[in-house]
Order: sequence, then C-alpha cells, then structure tokens
Amino acid sequence: MNVSKVRLPEAVQLEIFKQIGRTGDELNVPVYVIGGYVRDYLLGLPLKKDLDFVVVGDGPAFAKELSKKIKGKKSLSIYKNFGTAMLKTPEYILEFVGARKESYSSDSRKPQVEPGTLEDDLKRRDFTINALAICLNRDCYGELIDPFNGLRDLKDKVLRTPLDPDITFSDDPLRMMRAIRFATRLGFKIHPDTLEAIKKNKERIKIVSPERIVDELNKILLSEKPSTGLKLLDETGLLDFILPEITRLKGVEEIEGKTHKDNFYHTLEVVDNIARMDKQGNLWLRWAALLHDIGKPLTKRYHPKNGWSFHGHELVGAKMVPRIFKRLHMPLGQKMKYVQKLVQLSSRPIALTEENVTDSAIRRLIFDAGEELDDLLTLCEADITTKNPVRYKKYKNNLKQVRKKIVEVEERDRIRNFQPPITGEIIMKTFGIPPSKTVGEIKEAIKEAILEGEIKNDYEEAFELMLQLGKEKGLKPVKSG
Ligand code: CTP
Repeated sequence: MNVSKVRLPEAVQLEIFKQIGRTGDELNVPVYVIGGYVRDYLLGLPLKKDLDFVVVGDGPAFAKELSKKIKGKKSLSIYKNFGTAMLKTPEYILEFVGARKESYSSDSRKPQVEPGTLEDDLKRRDFTINALAICLNRDCYGELIDPFNGLRDLKDKVLRTPLDPDITFSDDPLRMMRAIRFATRLGFKIHPDTLEAIKKNKERIKIVSPERIVDELNKILLSEKPSTGLKLLDETGLLDFILPEITRLKGVEEIEGKTHKDNFYHTLEVVDNIARMDKQGNLWLRWAALLHDIGKPLTKRYHPKNGWSFHGHELVGAKMVPRIFKRLHMPLGQKMKYVQKLVQLSSRPIALTEENVTDSAIRRLIFDAGEELDDLLTLCEADITTKNPVRYKKYKNNLKQVRKKIVEVEERDRIRNFQPPITGEIIMKTFGIPPSKTVGEIKEAIKEAILEGEIKNDYEEAFELMLQLGKEKGLKPVKSG
C-alpha cells in the first residue's frame, strides 16, 4: 500500500487517541483515526466532537474493550447489522468500524459487507480528502496513510473520489450532495471528472431519504456563501429533483423590449445577503430567503403599459411552502409557519415605502408580523439587490424610515404581541349570547378600529365600541349579577 512518509504525531496528541492506540496494541489490532478529524486537522479547522476510527478487525469488539477502560460517564451502542459501534463520552462521540469491503446492488443504498484491509476500507469512502488515516498503534503512531493522494487534493483544494466517480456516487448518491456541501463550506473545487459524474448520476438522488438530503441542504444554507452550493446544485441538475420550485425561477423574458430580472439569481443574492447579515445562523430565515419568490412563475403577467408584474406572488408562494416542507420531510409546525409568514409578508415593508407610510399601515404591519417583525425587516433589506445605485440608496433609506416609524408607533400603541382588549368571552358575557358569527364580527371590528387608529388600544374605548356595535346588531347588555 502507498504509505506516505508523512508523520503527524502532533495530530494525535489527545489522550483519547493514545488510549485507543494502547487498546489496539493490547488486542493486537491495527487502529486508525480517519475521515473528518484528519481532514479538518490538516485544514487547521476546529476539532469536532465526532471522531471516526477504523480497526482492522472487529469494530464492535474493539469498542467494547475500550469502553471497559474509559473511566467516568459513557454509553456504548452496537449496531450489529452494520458492524459498527458508537461510544459516547461527555467529550466525544467515537465511532468504530471494522475495515471492510463493500458492494452495492443497483436499487438500494444498503451494501453487502465483508472484512477487508485498510485500503479496501479507504477506497470505498467518498473523497480522497476523507480517505486519509493516521495510525494510532505504537509502532506506527502518527503515520499518515494516504493511498489516494488526499494530501495533494487538500493542498490543491480539490474534491475528487478515490475510485471512478461513477462507482462512488452510484454506491451512495448522497455523496453528490456531500461534494457540493464540502465545495461550498471549504471553498474547494469539484474535480471536472467528479462533477461530470454527478451530472450523470443525478437521478440516483431519488433513492436517498429526504431527511438526509435536507441535512446537506441545510449545511449549504448555513454556510458563508450558500449561492456557491445552490449554483452547483443547479449546474449538476440535482436542484431539479430537490427543489424544482427554485429552478423554475430561472430565466428572463422579453416582450416589446421590456424584461424582468432573473429571479433565480436574485434569490441566490438574497440568500447570500441573509448569510452575511444573520450572524446567529437562523436556518429558517435562510429558508424564507430561499423561498421568498417561489410564487413568481405562477403570477407572472405582461401588461403592454406597465410591463412585467407578479401580483399576489407572496400569497401564492406562502401557499406552496407546506407542500415543499411535507415533500422534504421537514418540520411542519412552528418552523414551517414562520417560513410561510415571512414569504407571505416579504414585500410588505418595501411596498409601504413606495406610498405614504401611514400610522395605520405601520400598525397593521406590526400586528401581522408579530414576533417575526425583526426577521421580516432583515429579509426585506436582504431583498434589495438592485445594481442601480440611486434606487439602492432610495430603498435602503425608505426601509430606514419604516424602521424608525415602527419604533415610534410601537412605543405609543403597544401593537406587537397585540391581544385585543375585548375578548370573545367578554362579548358573550356582556350580551348574554352563545359563541356565534356575531361575536367574531364584533371582535374583528374592534381590532380593525384599533389598527386604523379610530380608537386607542385600551379596554375602556374598546368596551364602548363593543356596546355600540352590539346595539347596531340589535343586542342589549344583560344585567350582571
Ligand atoms: N463517508 C462516506 N460516504 C458518506 C458519508 C461518510 O464515504 N456518505 C465517510 C467519509 O470518509 C467521512 C467518514 O465516512 O469522512 C465520516 O463520515 P461523517 O462523520 O458523516 O463525515 P465527516 O467527513 O466526518 O464530516 P462531516 O461531519 O462534516 O459530515
């Protein structure tokens, strides 16, 4: 085997590596740390909690033996079917696998496995930069095993498969997403042959579970520049299988010399803007940015006088959100509702700036956005992608005015988290009526009056209005006890 002459004892100084090496010596079993740890160490990236090990022998038996030696809290899980074991300590998640050969059948991701050498094991891995191993046994402590020139590819910042890429991707099509995720997060290029193979094997992504696909997509979205990954997903054809709603945004039409912007590239810019502005890594805000214009293809119209329009695209887009979340097996509760709300309101603050920013319009915005107001304003700001410096300045400035006005109105009217001062209960009790449409109508009219600024957001004024509205509907207050 091509054992490089590189020795990296400093890479494996942690006590846990020494302990694992000692266990290997006692059992007379070769043991190596492999995968993400080695890659990230060589790239100078921070150490992760998850460490992967290959033993040339029985992985679960090795983990059992090691577990006996580790003092303190720990838990061991053995996955007999896969021949792997996971040992959790407060500091690490250690995964052990016996070196193996794998072969796959064409209709499944589940491999047939038999024992193999370290090289057999490394060659079945996804990329050369993940197929590096460092020996932990005493006689070769710190020696780097690099059968596929992973070190060279790390230096050249290239993602390439150890085997013919057709085999690697066909064996496990999730790796096509992993290639794009690593390219995005590490700033690496995908080798042309590897990229070609992704294009060729793209359809096989269908056999991968949506959860695993979304896991990779989320990592791409949470990167510093998600557009890199989204462009690669598009270029390879994978995006068509995962999120056709986004590829449908592509293209510019021209009628009578009038064009509209390419909403695909606009969306990518908005997602990148959000990634720059949102330092917290709010995944769902990034999803909202990705989906904010998906209603556009369905609402696109051309008017000879006014040119292109996408009226109502926000509502159409918001209605598409649950279907996408369901299809991708994403959470359907609060997170989905959050994304839906932001998509639906995505143009509201900007639209406000085009007309007179009235108090009532601001109150409605605060009421409708509720808890999500700050994120909505961030999304709106990210949505400004015009390259015309005059217009850019104008939109930015308008949004600033909206923010200022929000603070003023909020201080005065306390609309955020607004609960109408008159509840349905109060209405029913006052007029002695059961739950009915009338109760809802009175409640709604009171809310409208507050948002319009006709009455103050307080109990007394709202109660007066309720009595008046009741009277108009022929209701009389019942005498209370
Ligand atoms: N691996 C693979 N094919 C996959 C997943 C993983 O070949 N679909 C191999 C790679 O050698 C990888 C190792 O298993 O380095 C460990 O996998 P994992 O922990 O998922 O990934 P890491 O490379 O450690 O990186 P990350 O945690 O960022 O995913």
